[in-house]
Amino acid sequence: MSFHISTKEGQIADIVLLPGDPLRAKYIAETFLEDAVCYNTVRNMLGYTGTYKGKRVSVQGTGMGMPSAVLYIHELINDYGVKTLIRVGTCGAIQEDVHIRDVIIAQAAATDSSLIYKDLAPIYFPPIGDYGLIRSAADLAVEKDMNVHVGNIFSSDTFYNDTKDTMDSMSKLDVFGVDMETAGLYYLASKFHVRALSILTVSDHLITGEQTTAEERQTSFGEMIEVALEAGIK
Ligand code: HPA
Repeated sequence: MSFHISTKEGQIADIVLLPGDPLRAKYIAETFLEDAVCYNTVRNMLGYTGTYKGKRVSVQGTGMGMPSAVLYIHELINDYGVKTLIRVGTCGAIQEDVHIRDVIIAQAAATDSSLIYKDLAPIYFPPIGDYGLIRSAADLAVEKDMNVHVGNIFSSDTFYNDTKDTMDSMSKLDVFGVDMETAGLYYLASKFHVRALSILTVSDHLITGEQTTAEERQTSFGEMIEVALEAGIK
């Protein structure tokens, strides 16, 4: 039992997938896992444990933004002993050659959040993903013939107030896309010595203005979940 997750020790698997949307957690559990059981309903932030190809896997909603995501991530690691955390989310694209429905595997995440700097000033720490997970996920995505990009993303603290200047400077530094959680996940993974990966489908394009329909999001989302599960159990 912890502050925001109410279940007993042992009810959550070593490997956890992390969608922002709790209903996505339910969908993933019902569609991809066998014998999935719901272990958390606190604040409707649903969490499930089941099996994938015989291995125990959990899926936990995190809510949006780093403050929400990191409190679930903190409790999963410190109160439930989770060792592998894989964010499965969406992002906005900021490169012309990254298209909606493409998948981005985040090698690292720049951020405008004070979350990390607050702990480590005067150091600007680079939050990076686990190399083994990145490599497995990239190989699997290529095998599946997915349009995949492996590189830097930007985890923003705001969805609506990011200035064009910030996005322009990130774009000029070859950053592929923007989300609101990955830097927090990667930082906590380093802090607590666990493995983390963030895989993102592009849901909107900040340069061209293109957006995916809910139906289109579902297809690329499904392939991304398979990659996350396969990389996680490997
Ligand atoms: N900005 C930040 N986070 C996001 C976006 C975006 O455009 N799209 C999906 N997550």
